[in-house]
Amino acid sequence: MAELIRAGRAYGPVTALEEATLSIRRGELLAVVGPSGSGKSTLLNVLGTLERPTSGTVRIDGHDVAALPDGQLSALRARTIGFVFQQFHLAPGVPVRDSVADGLLYGGVPRARRRELAEAALRRVGLEHRLGHRPHELSGGEKQRCAIARAVLADPAPGSGAAGPLLLLADEPTGALDTASGERVMELLRELNAAGTAVVVITHDRDIAATLPRRVRLRDGRITEDTGGAS
Ligand SMILES: Nc1ncnc2c1ncn2[C@@H]1O[C@H](COP(=O)(O)OP(=O)(O)OP(=O)(O)O)[C@@H](O)[C@H]1O
Ligand SMILES: [Mg+2]
Repeated sequence: MAELIRAGRAYGPVTALEEATLSIRRGELLAVVGPSGSGKSTLLNVLGTLERPTSGTVRIDGHDVAALPDGQLSALRARTIGFVFQQFHLAPGVPVRDSVADGLLYGGVPRARRRELAEAALRRVGLEHRLGHRPHELSGGEKQRCAIARAVLADPAPGSGAAGPLLLLADEPTGALDTASGERVMELLRELNAAGTAVVVITHDRDIAATLPRRVRLRDGRITEDTGGAS
């Protein structure tokens, strides 16, 4: 349902990603690993259509990204893809229920419904007792769970059967957390995966990577290993 075919991304003279071919099937769970600067975030951004490739092809849910104008690409992204970044951008002073609800601002969802969906998403990540808390009143792990709640809010594609986005992309979601909070976040990603969402997790944590069914390794912008490519 998401596919890179010899995709590359250059920033001027810097080639951050080169000839990357990767096919992600519905409901998969995979880790992306590799040294700092090897192109992991670039791969995630290209896969998530936040950046267009400078060579090769990206296909999401059957659509060739290059063929879509920006407006249609944003709509496809909003419908199918959720993101969890390492730097969670929760607005200071804003209750988390509203921060999460704002994730739906551009979907034309009425305010009351946005709040309802936000509360449901926060319940799903175990934060129903923190709806009115402001970011500075949350622990690091709780903030990260808010980020996940916001990511899963992306309205599921009609008829997809998934309880969340088709594809969830997480860039080092446990990087800033202690072991226990990190495990809670991983557990959550597994639950979403079990509910039908394909999940791609960038991680530096060998233990986490080792427990995931498929691992993709990058080095100098190239995929050097993929334990689940062919099957
Ligand atoms: N906007 C940009 N302009 C120029 N070079 C960039 C840009 N973004 C990334 N790069 C370069 O591309 C390479 C890959 O970057 P990327 O962020 O994908 O690495 P990464 O594997 O995610 O690293 P880390 O583990 O440190 O997050 C790096 O060498 C980086 O310096
Ligand atoms: Mg990175």
